[in-house]
Amino acid sequence: MPEPLLKVTDLSMYYKTKTETVRAVEGVSFSIGVGKTFGLVGESGCGKSTTARSIIRLLPKTGQIVGGQVLYQGRDVAKMSQRELREIRGKEIGMIFQDPMTSLNPVTTVGKQLFESLEGQGLDKQGMHDRAVELLRMVNIPEPEERLGNYVHELSGGMRQRVMIAIALAPRPKLLLADEPTTALDVTIQDQVICLINSLKEQLGMSVLLVTHDLGVVNEMCDQVGVMYAGRIVEIGSRRQVLDKPHHPYTEGLIRSLPAEHDTRSRLQSIPGMPPNLAREIVGCPFAPRCPYATDICRAKAPGVVDRLDGHLVWCHHADESDRAKVTESTGILDPREEGAA
Ligand SMILES: Nc1ncnc2c1ncn2[C@@H]1O[C@H](COP(=O)(O)OP(=O)(O)OP(=O)(O)O)[C@@H](O)[C@H]1O
Ligand SMILES: [Mg+2]
Repeated sequence: MPEPLLKVTDLSMYYKTKTETVRAVEGVSFSIGVGKTFGLVGESGCGKSTTARSIIRLLPKTGQIVGGQVLYQGRDVAKMSQRELREIRGKEIGMIFQDPMTSLNPVTTVGKQLFESLEGQGLDKQGMHDRAVELLRMVNIPEPEERLGNYVHELSGGMRQRVMIAIALAPRPKLLLADEPTTALDVTIQDQVICLINSLKEQLGMSVLLVTHDLGVVNEMCDQVGVMYAGRIVEIGSRRQVLDKPHHPYTEGLIRSLPAEHDTRSRLQSIPGMPPNLAREIVGCPFAPRCPYATDICRAKAPGVVDRLDGHLVWCHHADESDRAKVTESTGILDPREEGAA
């Protein structure tokens, strides 16, 4: 097996203040191969962005990595100096964050920021200008030549998002950390951005960590998927394994809350209940209070990992379906899949 570009092992990251500790990421492991896209999915607040930011140590002062390891090209990110980290960020590792204003510079023009991202590619002034215009065109910015002279506050929210994507892709990064890259965009532009990222993946062999709550986007972009809940990965595997044969009740719930294609009458079934408060200690399986299959063991003990097949891993006491059928029978809970089929 070739060495993965990124290997995250047992990563834990907490936000610690005087009054509380938020366990935002707890024992997360995954790796991303060269030219592959790994999707992190889950509801709001489950720790997706924190995981992405922990990889390159872009964290607020309260954020502390309390355990685990991140290896980028076999190098331990924790052992890199601030200088090494700065060199990697935005050059080898491109970043698209949820809030464009946190990664765009308010006091320099769009053009200047693009030119900085294009440094080191052997382009002369004209070459940089042409490439910058081309990048803005690729993310569908109208009148790109004129936009080069704009400051980001002069652009609309959707345009800022697209400028940030252009800047992130300009240095031809080896790894792109894309946190909800298409959420703020309308559907047509969303599709264009997905196509652009996918084509760069093919052209450059770029790897992508895609953070999203949208399983449709996962389906279009990802090779591997990790489903996060309450700071942990609860199911991981190939896109087909996770989307076609989910084994965690939470993944099933997420898939069932997608509107069925071509069926405008279908009722959206969101998962009842709320994720747990990550500032409180979690006993047992974090999903147990919302899970239709939960039994005493789920409420008492955190589940270990079950290897379904070929690296399809599930953290659930009842990951085995025949086991789950028994639970459903004994508790009289209607199997959600039957209900969905009715
Ligand atoms: N700066 C912070 N200080 C304290 N807690 C924080 C901070 N940032 C995030 N959190 C908490 O950490 C947890 C994980 O947050 P995170 O932003 O990583 O979730 P997310 O999955 O990216 O959510 P979303 O889909 O809404 O972007 C949440 O409980 C959140 O409230
Ligand atoms: Mg987020």
